[in-house]
Amino acid sequence: MINFVVTNNLSMDHIKLHDKEFRIFIESDKIQKSIAEVALKLNENYKDKKSPLFLSVLNGSFMFAADLLKNIDFQCEISFVKLSSYSGTATTGEVLEILGLSSSVKGREIIILEDIVDTGNTVVELHNILKKRGASTVKICTLLLKPNSYKKELPIDYVALKIPNDFIVGYGLDYNELGRQYKDIYILDESNG
Ligand code: IMP
Ligand code: MG
Repeated sequence: MINFVVTNNLSMDHIKLHDKEFRIFIESDKIQKSIAEVALKLNENYKDKKSPLFLSVLNGSFMFAADLLKNIDFQCEISFVKLSSYSGTATTGEVLEILGLSSSVKGREIIILEDIVDTGNTVVELHNILKKRGASTVKICTLLLKPNSYKKELPIDYVALKIPNDFIVGYGLDYNELGRQYKDIYILDESNG
């Protein structure tokens, strides 16, 4: 029999990323409980649907997608997409491009998985593109929502945790690409630089 010694060296009170200090804000247990609650709602709402397609928006939502999907008990597919903005024509201005979407969305039940909805600019545009491409339903499921920042009409259907308008990192979220690997969520600690 192999005995594993589990050391948990990624659980810390404070972390420093680039020039900024962050302090612990939401612990792993609470994140996991909130995800399980969201999964319960999805399991109830999608139990009779024909293989819904989860669309996980990279990079931020990779951990959320992995943990959420472990709690999903209906038959489903998952695809990972990246979004990039490019300049369209003079009339269309900035256009959002979806990279990595190999499956057709026509007639599908789509559930967008986001790490965080702040202003909602990105997720609302993604929602509209998927509807235009013929998705039958497009629902939004986010780990985090900043309700004081989100002022759009489109409902955010599934929210694991609501947070104030502060800058946070960890559990997939980054500060200039650092900090994604932590199992807890950290908040910018202004008192420490
Ligand atoms: P939105 O389009 O304003 O909703 O912004 C969404 C994107 O901004 C997210 O997918 C994140 O990449 C980033 N973002 C917003 N708030 C935070 C934060 O507090 N920490 C890290 N990234 C954030
Ligand atoms: Mg994101």
